[in-house]
Amino acid sequence: MRFVRKDVYLIEEVKDLSKTFYVTTPIYYVNSDPHIGSAYTTIVADVVARYKRMMGYDTFFLTGTDEHGQKIMRAAKEKGMDTKKFVDDLAQRFIQLWKDLEISNDLFIRTTDDYHVKTVQEFFQKMYEKGDIYLGKYEGWYCVHDETFWTEKDIGPDKLCPVCHRPLEHVEEENYFFRLSKYTKPLLDHFRSHPDFVEPDFRRNEMIKILEEGLEDISVSRTSFDWGIPLPFDKKHVIYVWFDALINYVSAVGYGRDDEKFKKYWPADVHFVGKEINRFHSLIWPAMLMSVGLPLPKKIFAHGWLTVNGEKISKSKGNAVDPRVLVKAYGLDAVKYYLLRDITFGNDGDFSEDNLIVRINADLANDLGNLVHRTLSMVNQNFEEIPDPSKEEKIDDDLKDLLSRTINDYFSYMDSFKFTEALISIWNLVKFSNKYIDMTEPWLLARDPSKKERLGTVLYNLVDVIRNISIMISPIMVKTSKSLIDRINQDLDVNMLGWHKTEKAKIEVGEPLFPRIDTKVWKKVIKMAETEENQKKAEISIEDFAKIDLRVARIKKAERIPKSEKLVKLILDVGGEERQIVTGIGLVYTPESLIGREIIIIYNLKPTKLMGVESNGMLLAAKDGEKLRILTVDGFVETGAKIS
Ligand code: MSP
Repeated sequence: MRFVRKDVYLIEEVKDLSKTFYVTTPIYYVNSDPHIGSAYTTIVADVVARYKRMMGYDTFFLTGTDEHGQKIMRAAKEKGMDTKKFVDDLAQRFIQLWKDLEISNDLFIRTTDDYHVKTVQEFFQKMYEKGDIYLGKYEGWYCVHDETFWTEKDIGPDKLCPVCHRPLEHVEEENYFFRLSKYTKPLLDHFRSHPDFVEPDFRRNEMIKILEEGLEDISVSRTSFDWGIPLPFDKKHVIYVWFDALINYVSAVGYGRDDEKFKKYWPADVHFVGKEINRFHSLIWPAMLMSVGLPLPKKIFAHGWLTVNGEKISKSKGNAVDPRVLVKAYGLDAVKYYLLRDITFGNDGDFSEDNLIVRINADLANDLGNLVHRTLSMVNQNFEEIPDPSKEEKIDDDLKDLLSRTINDYFSYMDSFKFTEALISIWNLVKFSNKYIDMTEPWLLARDPSKKERLGTVLYNLVDVIRNISIMISPIMVKTSKSLIDRINQDLDVNMLGWHKTEKAKIEVGEPLFPRIDTKVWKKVIKMAETEENQKKAEISIEDFAKIDLRVARIKKAERIPKSEKLVKLILDVGGEERQIVTGIGLVYTPESLIGREIIIIYNLKPTKLMGVESNGMLLAAKDGEKLRILTVDGFVETGAKIS
């Protein structure tokens, strides 16, 4: 059944089954640890999918995992695991996470799935036949962490990744290239003729600026490792992981495999992505689609980034909390309500546990909880079932007007992904309904038998509002909505939005919807870690300090320790003496970038072995979360110089 909304009172049934909605999240790097920041994209996409389903759209909601590339291959090696086995295990974690968060995806795609591999190869063959792929030599910079190529003009003299600030690796390889430059003009034309193509508008403007500067061709294959999809026309090459990943959006809906399904859902209605991957979705992906002659997605919505308790999310800060931990403590509905209510979708925002508690107590326990509890208990105390309404007064009209405005606003806000505004408008209705109770004073009406009819009208109107609220919140607060609808014994159906459609039924008051959180005794779940870095150590005397022999050393040679992502072996010159140390800076520094640097070492540290390699001293470095910088001297001194 479908519904067409004309206005609040004219949601009419139609039998047109042609309305479809295809919504996607990015596919997650399978070896990343999901936290509330990364789960955010999927939580929001789920709300949209549920909303569209409720509106009668034949909805397809996709998420999945991105499983190829150098970073994943290295991580598997580090663990000494077979790469396929490694990704199989990790993919399960995501499948389970989305289950636990009641995410309603219709498909979970993995880039190692056979059908996807086949589609990617066919897609590439098409681009090749179109003349958009050519063999060239790539010489430039690569961020393994973000799996991103950078040109000299994107980066500074320190050769750090502009996004994650990790050191870039210099790459020199024979690669295939995609003629992205050819699509600069067609893309600009598309952006100009489709002003809603990328949202929010400030992120669209960033993309237009890049286009106006002109796009360069990009490398789309690698030969230095093999964990990826082989190019169909040159099996020595594997396809660049981003190209492989982006194609998931069409392979998931049957491109080249199931024409009927593909026609039904493609082009996608919206790709939800975080701001740092907007460029891939708004520029590269559309150019790839133009190359093979497919229509472009209708919209890319690039949301902002979340911090947690005011800090960038990082494991070492202790705020990279598993979303399930939050859900266990506060409930799924409360966490989702808070995320959508407090963080303006599109902008950066902060997930603050204190603010979450405030919202639970004020909006959920107090505003909504009180409205429901007061209304339902008065119905039960005074009537066998939901009473009939009769003559209405001015205040009833005010409530009715507000309800109708709220429903209209709700539709337009939800259609444009303005969740904060949608919830604010629903909660204005909740608050006004509480005021309506205060003004109509049903407890006084209940004492006077001659006012029974008026009491019935007031309580009917309140139940009617609760029914409407339950329907409106259902894409966000699934359980709460169901629980409310059950208590008043009605149907959860968008077609019933509007005034005076509540059926006569017995009701149940039930337990409080959201118990209040007593902040005096409540134990918060996000504990900022007492890490080594932020722990104060015990005082030491100058004599203790004098026991440490610190010296300046110059790095003569540097090489990675095989099978380790982090460990690097350094050969040092310390005042003419040659020393070998092993240090864990390999995630942040490439061996080549270390040669010739002057560093500071603990010279008299007891020798030890790391992964079987002797280490004779220790390098000093400053650590701030995942950031790490080695200490060095300010100007020239001879190696071997002492530090005091
Ligand atoms: N594998 C790529 C996407 C390929 S899509 C063809 C990728 N994966 S990811 O695991 O790094 O990111 C998944 C989603 O999480 C992205 O939308 C990303 O923006 C989002 N977030 C990760 N950390 C985030 C925050 N701290 N805050 C909000 N979203 C963030 O990118």
